[in-house]
Amino acid sequence: MKFLPIHGLLALASLSVACLLPEERKNDGVRQVTRRQVGNGTPVGTGDRFRGGATAPRGLGTQSMTFSTLLNVNEIKSGLQGLVNAYGIETFETPYKTYEGARIIGAKVGGSGGNCTDAYRVFFNGNIHARERGSADNVLYFISDLLYADKNNIGLTYGSKTYTSAQVKTALSAGIVFIPLSNPDGVDYDQRTNSCWRKNRKPAGSAVGIDLNRNFDFLWDFTTTFAPNVQSTVGSTRPSSETYHGTSPFSEPETRSIKWVMDTYSKVRWFIDLHSFAGDVLHSWGSDENQSKYSYMNFMNSSYDSVRGILTDTPGSGRGYGEYTPTKESEVNVGAARRMGSAMSTAGGRSYTVMQSSALYPTSGASDDYAYSRHFADPSLNLIHAYTVEFGFGNTAASCPFYPSVSQFNANIKATNAGFMEFLLAAVEYGLGDKSTC
Ligand SMILES: *[C@@H]1O[C@H](CO)[C@@H](O)[C@H](O)[C@H]1NC(C)=O
Ligand SMILES: *[C@@H]1O[C@H](CO)[C@@H](O)[C@H](O)[C@H]1NC(C)=O
Ligand SMILES: *[C@@H]1O[C@H](CO)[C@@H](O)[C@H](O)[C@H]1NC(C)=O
Ligand SMILES: [Zn+2]
Repeated sequence: MKFLPIHGLLALASLSVACLLPEERKNDGVRQVTRRQVGNGTPVGTGDRFRGGATAPRGLGTQSMTFSTLLNVNEIKSGLQGLVNAYGIETFETPYKTYEGARIIGAKVGGSGGNCTDAYRVFFNGNIHARERGSADNVLYFISDLLYADKNNIGLTYGSKTYTSAQVKTALSAGIVFIPLSNPDGVDYDQRTNSCWRKNRKPAGSAVGIDLNRNFDFLWDFTTTFAPNVQSTVGSTRPSSETYHGTSPFSEPETRSIKWVMDTYSKVRWFIDLHSFAGDVLHSWGSDENQSKYSYMNFMNSSYDSVRGILTDTPGSGRGYGEYTPTKESEVNVGAARRMGSAMSTAGGRSYTVMQSSALYPTSGASDDYAYSRHFADPSLNLIHAYTVEFGFGNTAASCPFYPSVSQFNANIKATNAGFMEFLLAAVEYGLGDKSTC
């Protein structure tokens, strides 16, 4: 980012920037970097605090302390191993290797346990955007808290938001699969270079990196499927852009891995992709405003290609377009988002806004839209209520605003973890889909 005078920085912090900075949204997503090194926020941990898994992580809901460093890439792995050793949970590797040869690792907890894939109904995904520091930490610490609280029959406390031991057990009963670090190459690079790196690390022409959150199979080919005047903001075909969408949908091992989880744990009903730093809980859709009146007006209907993504039109009037969602599903989409946003605000740190994804800015190829679109595109697939959660603050004192200060990092953990807890309880109440046959 450019160095801005202090009033400019404060203005930046209050903009709804989400994962893209204002100067990246202009100019087809290409960043004009003139960074001034003013510190990098919370330092990345050195060494391995979990000693190869000999120690299990514990979050901020079961103890009162302050984390002074971020987890490094190796610690995210050894922390997961620590949970395996302490609680006997099972991990999985997706079948795809990243460009740099890393495996994407996840784990499953709760439900009826074991190897029955149908037991898992909620999926948390972390750090698909590399520079959004703390995303993986938030996921790993939350699961650690759940397991610790369950084992010791205690509750959880995040700021002024508290949950009972019984609620912990209810939350776990949903069955959770999670990938703390879905972009390991990108995060490793960002942690080594402090370069505000967003994408993965696969070479693309003379540039490097694909924006994984534009690479999913949902209206991916935006030069065809979106209105000409919004195309430059929904994604990019230029490899140098921060929103470069790759050569085809699911061209990347990281996005294929997330699809693999949804295919393998095919009863997943609820999905959160965790981002920073707008302070938003976003529900479907991200392509255009939602509407429940016209079922044929949807992402599969090419007769709307030339008008999709325009938010100022009125669906059903003239060429106006809105993305279809049945009223019942929409109520659940919005209801669970509101509960999550309210818990996140109560946990302290900052207040969270609940809105539709497209209200931030319309996008193509995003993970949440892909997840929610699956059952429309193929009715044999499970309905997934899908969300993008944008935690945190812009750190105006760091070289990259996505790098939180120590106090922001800790506040973010409490906010997201309260949100996750509330989300699991909402999921159980709204419904987890078919009764498990496990
Ligand atoms: C699940 O499958 C893995 C790999 O086949 C095996 O190592 C593990 O023991 C199984 N767990 C249970 C609970 O059956
Ligand atoms: C669309 O989203 C808004 C929130 O942005 C929500 O209040 C509304 O109920 C949704 N409408 C439909 C028709 O789904
Ligand atoms: C697509 O939308 C048009 C209206 O623009 C409608 O006439 C047509 O039936 C729709 N196609 C499908 C497959 O629903
Ligand atoms: Zn992001």
